[in-house]
Amino acid sequence: MEKQGKSGHLVLVTVPFQGHITPMLQLATILRSKGFSITVVHPELNSPNPSDHPEITFVSIPDQLTKSQLSDTDVASLTLILNRNCAAPLQHCINKILRSYGHIAAVVYDTLMFCAQTIADNLRLPGITLRTCSATTLLFFPVFPQLDEKDFISEIESPELQVLQLQRFRSLLSQSPTEATMETRVAFTKAVGRSSAIIVNSMEFLEQEALSKVKEYFPAPIFTIGPFHKLAPMVCSSLLAEDDKCISWLDKQSPKSVIYVSFGSIASIDRRELMETAWGLANSKEPFLWVVRPGLVRGSEWNELLPNGFRESVGERGCIVKWAPQKQVLAHVSVGGFWSHGGWNSTIESICEGLPMICKPFFGDQHVNSSYICKVWKIGLELHELERGNIEKTIKRLMVDVEGNEIRKRAMDLKEKAALSLIEGCSSICSLHDLTNQISSA
Ligand code: UDX
Repeated sequence: MEKQGKSGHLVLVTVPFQGHITPMLQLATILRSKGFSITVVHPELNSPNPSDHPEITFVSIPDQLTKSQLSDTDVASLTLILNRNCAAPLQHCINKILRSYGHIAAVVYDTLMFCAQTIADNLRLPGITLRTCSATTLLFFPVFPQLDEKDFISEIESPELQVLQLQRFRSLLSQSPTEATMETRVAFTKAVGRSSAIIVNSMEFLEQEALSKVKEYFPAPIFTIGPFHKLAPMVCSSLLAEDDKCISWLDKQSPKSVIYVSFGSIASIDRRELMETAWGLANSKEPFLWVVRPGLVRGSEWNELLPNGFRESVGERGCIVKWAPQKQVLAHVSVGGFWSHGGWNSTIESICEGLPMICKPFFGDQHVNSSYICKVWKIGLELHELERGNIEKTIKRLMVDVEGNEIRKRAMDLKEKAALSLIEGCSSICSLHDLTNQISSA
């Protein structure tokens, strides 16, 4: 029989997307430090590298994804296929772990891997869901299929949520959803409703009003134990190789002078938008570090579509990489601003370094995050269209103008609050104690 950790053994189930693998592996490391032994079960696609995490056991399950599904399928359909294909192997795998450890304290799964909750229920194990986006996104779940627009608006009235205009996001989400999207939403709503706890990579002060609404909707307690990456700083989870040359380039720049530009791991733009972004950055005359991920531009290999004359125009003032060591970049003294797509991980990482932001949301929760950043926390400027004049102007407003200084001050305030939440006796650490107590005493 395998040896359990002193607090018990946990099975963590992840989905194979960058923005989800990272927080799950960070959570695994955090829970390991609390005395749990951990098995991470993951689909074959985008498998984590076990040698980066020697204290965790990894088990791969067949996902049966085909090449055409990977290239042509949207995230909702891929999620559905993954759940269908992985359910039986996951059940088999958890049964095997149960036999070899004798006991499993809980199955902790990414909300998108909702089949894990059904398996946990079947085996009478506690199922705990990790929502890797903001807690606010949970508000869409229970209300989505059941309530009409009027009910929804009156249900969530609160000053902060009104600023966010959640009803606008709800209509964005409900614009002709595909069958797969509807099925996925219903399935994860049901799974979260049955889970025995909800974990989010957030902090109490960031989403206070939304959190109190979430507590009204869901029976399970919600644990805000972020920022994960500060509790587990050594976790290495990039699916693409990080290009360190940008750090030596940053070393040569002046303090707070560089705008870092990255649109995360999924968002894509077209050739015209690439052109506009390139000229917007060039014309701003500010130093920039730009992540042009392979696949960022639909139909291109990498950066071969950058406009003629662009490189000559920016010279040493710009650095372009395929993938950056983002957390190191954001903490670098030369970085003074972050132009982001508003992914939740990037948002949390940026807040922790006190960086003012520019947000160009692309889809889903990025719109809500962007509204939090620009309208509620007021630590960023929204960019609606990728047009060179607009980009140039927005970068100058953030990096040069007095307006940028005010935004920077507020961003620094949030950084302090984020650091405070990790002090013994403060919100995230208390929440983590409560979570581990709940798991151990179940
Ligand atoms: C996805 C969704 O797109 C997003 O809306 C949701 O909030 C989370 O899941 P993604 O687009 O990848 O995430 O963005 P984000 O959540 O910001 O995560 C990206 C991660 O990749 C971050 O942890 C960031 O540090 C890392 N990263 C990004 C790098 O390490 N290097 C890079 O060059 C770019």
